[in-house]
Amino acid sequence: MLHLDASPRANRSRSRDVARRFFAALPDAIGVTRAELWSMELPSLDGGMIEGRYDLLHGNPVPDNVKSEWAAIGAVAQSFLDHDGFIISTPMWNFGIPYRLKQFVDVVTQPGMTFRNDAAGNVEGLAAGKRALIIAASAMPFGEDDALAGLDFQSRYLQAWLGFIGVTDVETLNVGPTFGTEDDVLEIMSAAGERAEGIARNWQS
Ligand SMILES: Cc1cc2nc3c(=O)[nH]c(=O)nc-3n(C[C@H](O)[C@H](O)[C@H](O)COP(=O)(O)O)c2cc1C
Repeated sequence: MLHLDASPRANRSRSRDVARRFFAALPDAIGVTRAELWSMELPSLDGGMIEGRYDLLHGNPVPDNVKSEWAAIGAVAQSFLDHDGFIISTPMWNFGIPYRLKQFVDVVTQPGMTFRNDAAGNVEGLAAGKRALIIAASAMPFGEDDALAGLDFQSRYLQAWLGFIGVTDVETLNVGPTFGTEDDVLEIMSAAGERAEGIARNWQS
């Protein structure tokens, strides 16, 4: 399993705390790689890189450094695909996801790497058969029945992205609201932790 940890908070991250409860309930036999998105090196997709990508796709000559940088991106995508499943723990930022997580998505979501498409518009996700858990923390409540649900571009975006690359077995655990009285937040965190443990037990069977 690959854990994509998208909170930059060193301590007291709500999403990471719930992820910890999930991993504590997983059997030791299930190996977990942890990717701390705020400290890991991520290639940047600047103008030269994007132009180079189109040139590579069209079989045009490209400078060696662009070739090797795209090979490095291919390696990040491949190490992502080398896992059987993904646990994404993330805060909501301005209704969406933090930009480091978006950068990771942009880096690995490349034709021929995590999906294939053709001129007729057919798309084949190359992560098919894998499973995912989204642990989505937010200060305000964004559960399906909450009034703000329509503004959720955090878990819904991640569900759409995972579906695009072929992951259809996706569970979502909304952690929130994380803003409130200490007692209320404690109760919400405790309930989210219990749900995470329940999901982990299910993953064992
Ligand atoms: C830059 C920034 C933007 C945020 N935007 C939202 C938001 O749009 N909606 C919301 O409910 N909470 C928002 N929050 C609050 C976090 O989602 C919330 O505190 C969450 O529990 C943090 O998770 P973490 O502790 O794992 O980082 C924002 C926090 C930050 C730092």
